[in-house]
Amino acid sequence: MKIKSADFVISNSKVELCPKSHLPEYAFIGRSNVGKSSLINMLTGRKSLAKTSAKPGKTQLINHFLINKNWHLVDLPGYGYAKVSKSTKRVFQKFITAYFEKREQMVCAFVLIDSRHKPQAIDMEFMQWLGEKAIPFCIIFTKADKLKPKELEKNLANYKAEMLETWEEMPEYFVTSATSGMGQDEILDYIDKLNELPAIQ
Ligand code: GTP
Ligand code: MG
Repeated sequence: MKIKSADFVISNSKVELCPKSHLPEYAFIGRSNVGKSSLINMLTGRKSLAKTSAKPGKTQLINHFLINKNWHLVDLPGYGYAKVSKSTKRVFQKFITAYFEKREQMVCAFVLIDSRHKPQAIDMEFMQWLGEKAIPFCIIFTKADKLKPKELEKNLANYKAEMLETWEEMPEYFVTSATSGMGQDEILDYIDKLNELPAIQ
């Protein structure tokens, strides 16, 4: 898929205020600082469409972007950021949960995982929750450029092995780098295919 247009639509903290349109929608979620906003910029080829920061906790709202005038891409706040207050965390949690439970247009959630780290309980628990709610998701491993190919291979094998302890199959996954553009074509083609499904139209 070629990105012909990518426009910011709206930011808000209430799923009820998200765009009313029924265009198919894809959400990017994961721990704070995992690279959600950077990945969105890489996928769309727009340097600063989504705001990024070296400091965790940058994205604090549900941000909708309209792509090629026919689907939405959604940047969400990170979960599991230790430095925000407990009450802020609860508010985040609440609207992220509400988003996934109520947003019927959401076709697939992309759960971002930092390829450098061992499997983390918070990600495992989040994917478990998506599974229980029957919310479709894929995994995106980020920051692949920060590892040597052998280390990356080892981490991916380790992640798969851990996933298979609780899941029957490894979910669909992509390996990406926001700096090199790795994974861009694969993810955009995947979205393109889902957008073409009769059930999505
Ligand atoms: P929050 O909005 O705070 O939840 O973070 P986020 O998940 O949106 O992360 P963001 O895209 O802001 O990136 C966090 C930091 O990681 C920034 O300093 C990015 O430049 C860096 N980063 C993100 N993706 C990559 C990548 O693929 N490679 C490298 N080398 N750095 C990356
Ligand atoms: Mg962000």
